[in-house]
Amino acid sequence: MEKKWWKESVVYQIYPRSFMDSNGDGIGDLKGMTSKLDYLHELGVDVIWLSPVYESPNDDNGYDISDYQAIMDEFGTMKDWEDLLAGLHSRGMKLMMDLVVNHTSDEHKWFVESRKSKDNPYRDYYVWRPGKEDGLEPNNWTSFFSGSAWQKDEETDEYFLHLFSKKQPDLNWENRKVRQEIYDMMTWWLDKGIDGFRMDVINLISKVDGLPSTPSGKRYDWGGDYFMNGPRVHEYLQEMNREVLSKYDIITVGECPGASTEDAAQYANKEQTELNMIFTFEHMDIDSGPGGKWDVKPWELKDLKDVMTKWQKGLEGKGWNSLYLNNHDQPRMVSRFGNDKEYRVESAKMLGTFLHMMQGTPYIYQGEEIGMTNVRFEAIEEYNDLEIHNMYREKVTEGGEDHQKVMESIYVKGRDNARTPMQWDESPNGGFTTGTPWIKVNPNFEQINAKQALADSNSIFYYYQKLIKLRKEHDIIVYGTYDLVAEEHEAIYAYTRTLGDEKLLVVCNFYGDEAVFNGNYSFDNAELLISNYEENGNENINNMTLRAYETRVYLLK
Ligand code: NOJ
Repeated sequence: MEKKWWKESVVYQIYPRSFMDSNGDGIGDLKGMTSKLDYLHELGVDVIWLSPVYESPNDDNGYDISDYQAIMDEFGTMKDWEDLLAGLHSRGMKLMMDLVVNHTSDEHKWFVESRKSKDNPYRDYYVWRPGKEDGLEPNNWTSFFSGSAWQKDEETDEYFLHLFSKKQPDLNWENRKVRQEIYDMMTWWLDKGIDGFRMDVINLISKVDGLPSTPSGKRYDWGGDYFMNGPRVHEYLQEMNREVLSKYDIITVGECPGASTEDAAQYANKEQTELNMIFTFEHMDIDSGPGGKWDVKPWELKDLKDVMTKWQKGLEGKGWNSLYLNNHDQPRMVSRFGNDKEYRVESAKMLGTFLHMMQGTPYIYQGEEIGMTNVRFEAIEEYNDLEIHNMYREKVTEGGEDHQKVMESIYVKGRDNARTPMQWDESPNGGFTTGTPWIKVNPNFEQINAKQALADSNSIFYYYQKLIKLRKEHDIIVYGTYDLVAEEHEAIYAYTRTLGDEKLLVVCNFYGDEAVFNGNYSFDNAELLISNYEENGNENINNMTLRAYETRVYLLK
């Protein structure tokens, strides 16, 4: 397999609003990030992925961009951004910027022009359609954030398409001028010295011709089949690759809801004609019932095994995986897949091991390295996320569903679980700000914070530091092939990695009770590379009793 630096790297995601506030306005900013570079360097991560810091009216916290080439005032200046980049590069780290080009903000100058008249030169930058004769929207698609995906604009009496909020109109990628503007903008950032792009919902950019309604006959329906992995998406990405990406030695990852492993093998093909890797959502859906994300059901280890194995084997020799268990859109992994109470530390370490030992590039989301947890705010008003508010309005205010039931689903799935401020120390607001934070700090900051983690040699932080270091020391962790073992085990997720004569055995107990692993390995030498417990004298690789959430990784030679 071809060796690449971005396969050997570990990425750390910063959600700028919630990372570190330097000026007391309650909002994280660029200077705040720069002040924490030594912390990130000590953790050992290679690449920082920065969620959007561009000018934005913040309907969706920066994922609604009004100027791609300007920095949001609340985050600082272009000079502050340059200082951040220089600070990263001087420490040998790289910077991956978020690229949000399925849509812009409705306050972007292109859209301001576009909505003025049907013959405006920017009209075709977006997707406009007349309403139906019966007064209905052009089709029955719903948006990711509840309600119709169409908004009527009085000015010209037509509707524009928005797959996300109505302040996020979709760009019209069919228009070559739009694509050229985007490529020029990307080139401008690359020439400023950035090291790559994380591409927001990039597999939604091509919509099926004619924008047909779904056949269900429902007034509003999920139209995913008509815009996820659409007819021209590969053509566009290959064009982008030819005209921009291939000219630089960079890292690219595309966020791709609804992509199968076959789709991924094309997006992340090994000839590298599109992207380096994509984010799949399949493992993020194992706790969703038929009603979707908010229809919460308990996840099952069997489903996790099935999905992860499908992706590990599905891309073997064909592409490259990205590995994540949480981000700014997902709940905290230790609350979701581990035990955020009595085994918080053990289960966070186990989950980190589980993920970092797989094949692919691991992504750490800010606060994961100290085991930050989900939050339960009492009132809906304490939440900020528009996805939560739209859903609540649709279900409770308009739909009459039970308030408490919906709150419980927010506690499990809401995006704000991941967006509470980073917990730096035990001072007020967890040391995130001296002002009033834009969203409340998780009240557990006095017990869970970075200062405490740095003072404890047994902390999750140092465990992650070791996971990252091991990746640098053992090629097998990066390049070995994956195989699931003990497939039927109900409590243990175990797998091997193989490279040449070496094998790696990764064993993870996903529950709070003891569990026995029986293997069948005859190697002369089994070296315990990492474990989240002290060795207990029971290190027989073919018969081990794992304690609550225990994990062990052996190198077999
Ligand atoms: C995916 C981003 O990760 C999410 O935060 C955002 O709301 C949507 N795309 C729309 O840009």
